[in-house]
Amino acid sequence: MIKSQLESIRQAAAEKIASAEDRAELESLRVAYLGKKGELTAILKQMGGLSAEERPVVGQLANEARTYLEELIALSLQRFKSLEKNARLAGETIDVTMPGTPVPRGHKHPLSIVLDEVKEIFLGMGFSVASGPEVELDYYNFEALNIPPGHPARDTQDTFYITENILLRTQTSPVQIRYMESHKPPIRIIAPGRVYRSDAVDATHSPLFHQIEGLVVDRGITMGDLKACLEALAKELFGQATKIRLRPHHFPFTEPSCEVDVSCFRCGGEGCSMCKGEGWIEILGAGMVHPQVLRNGGIDPGEFSGFAFGVGLERIVMARYRIDDLRLFYENDIRFLSQF
Ligand code: PHE
Repeated sequence: MIKSQLESIRQAAAEKIASAEDRAELESLRVAYLGKKGELTAILKQMGGLSAEERPVVGQLANEARTYLEELIALSLQRFKSLEKNARLAGETIDVTMPGTPVPRGHKHPLSIVLDEVKEIFLGMGFSVASGPEVELDYYNFEALNIPPGHPARDTQDTFYITENILLRTQTSPVQIRYMESHKPPIRIIAPGRVYRSDAVDATHSPLFHQIEGLVVDRGITMGDLKACLEALAKELFGQATKIRLRPHHFPFTEPSCEVDVSCFRCGGEGCSMCKGEGWIEILGAGMVHPQVLRNGGIDPGEFSGFAFGVGLERIVMARYRIDDLRLFYENDIRFLSQF
């Protein structure tokens, strides 16, 4: 009696499992047959009424039926899983011919645009690009450039000190010394980089700005070479009609020294708001490398001479694009940056 009941439950369950249509149906079949209140379980509960001989036989049959149904369910579950996976994969297929989502592209910062141009101009004249540390020794930033402790030039280049002897460089000129120490003439380099001064921020001052140092050392270098070199730079940067003007000046590490102006490219020298009525715009400091500075770099001033210059990058970029506030370079305002 129980045996035939078992057999018919087994068959009915097997058929239903085979024709189950999804995982939920499969699960409810599992509960209906094998769960705590399931049909198969109910049969087992009737076993108390069986004889001692029958009980193990029926017990074994019931267990076999359970194992059989469990296997069927597991197989079916497997099938549903792989069907689901295939459906998911089909849904995820990418149509590579669909138009993409446009990604906004950035571009170079105006300071980098002009710096790269300056590099190209000098590379074209046979210069190479050198660099030095921004955290610099007092020796390279000041002493080796003829600015001993107590020298008034230190006041105009007040900076941020790490220790008494280590500071954030106030100029790119220390690269002159470092480069001469490790290279023999002929030397022809530019050294662009960040410099620091303890200045309050306003439209024309920033505690961080950029300079481009230039250094040429060889036999027979004169002020004429300096002038020709800077004239070439000015014409390339601001247009062939640009003139330059050298005004006497003083730097402790060049002798003689000058400041260099370019003719105002807006008014051509007439005087306008751009050049504040002057007709000229100052862009750099320069001069012939002081003999003691050559010596400090390990170069004999009896045999070699040289010129050096230091351009303020922000200043030429402002002149070039008619930008009237230095702070715009550092604020990362996309409305400003996207204009270049
Ligand atoms: N280092 C100078 C400054 O920051 C500029 C300079 C460089 C002048 C090289 C002469 C020669 O003002």
